[in-house]
Amino acid sequence: MRSFAGRDILSLKEFERNEFFHLFEIADRLEPIARERRNTDLLAHKTLVTAFYQPSTRTRLAHEAAMHRLGGHVTGFSDAKMTRAGDFYQESIKDTVHMLEYYGDVLVMRHFEQGAPHEAAKWASIPVINAGDGWGEHPTQVLTDLYTVLKEKGTLDGLTFVAIGDHRMRTMHSLGYALSQFDAEMVILSPEEMAPLPEFLAELDDKGTNYRTVEHIDEVIGEADVIYMEPVIQPDYTIPVHERPDDYGVTPDNYKITQEVMSRAKGDSIILHSLPRMDELLPEVDDLKHARYWQEAYNGVVMRMTLISSVLGAWE
Ligand code: CP
Repeated sequence: MRSFAGRDILSLKEFERNEFFHLFEIADRLEPIARERRNTDLLAHKTLVTAFYQPSTRTRLAHEAAMHRLGGHVTGFSDAKMTRAGDFYQESIKDTVHMLEYYGDVLVMRHFEQGAPHEAAKWASIPVINAGDGWGEHPTQVLTDLYTVLKEKGTLDGLTFVAIGDHRMRTMHSLGYALSQFDAEMVILSPEEMAPLPEFLAELDDKGTNYRTVEHIDEVIGEADVIYMEPVIQPDYTIPVHERPDDYGVTPDNYKITQEVMSRAKGDSIILHSLPRMDELLPEVDDLKHARYWQEAYNGVVMRMTLISSVLGAWE
């Protein structure tokens, strides 16, 4: 297995099965720290730098919370407009990263451009973690999600993942790549205009991901082990700052999870949603035994503790 020390976490495309399980074992070791709300000194002399060019609640704060739990320090920005990258100078990623690498030991970047963290990694002498790049990927989210599935179902094999929502989304890409490493089926459900791009499906074919497409949740709700949700009402992720238009619409029933839909689901199926949500996942579902998105959010801290400590070589 490739070492995680010093490694960039940019994509799940090349992740191997044993690397997933290696991280999940470390997550199990670190989880009690988060559960007991303790801070340790594992990374007492290390600093995390966050560079967020796009809004985030969970990903940025989960990384920061993770670093605090590990006893490290945190610096960075959550609004590029207040940096030279976002003002008159439009400072390049190369120049920005050449600064940031002196300010800390690991860099977490979210950017509206696909491939921006990869560009950062070319110039950074410290590990770079992709916190979401345009429509590209969201590897730390999907590692969190698969860890949640493993904890809840006891396995990642033999499961049917019904992935509902905008399949141009970065989480759907990372999920599709990751599932190639497991004996799992990905059932794709999206509006036509949000269908996976042909080049992405070609990659899934190359990697051997087992997938099929359906048109309505009613076709598959009885088969789902994991209901993996993203909104179909989305901002354009390639735009750095957006304002929600008044006519953003409502989610068609095909892509919606309600109490009534869940009454036809397997008793032990689970619902994941990386959040934020719109009307595709109604608050009435929060009270059902199937809802696991709050557990998923908690695991987000555990997985970021795992990734930060791993790329900083704490387990070597
Ligand atoms: N799930 C997720 O990426 O949430 P944020 O946009 O709040 O980070």
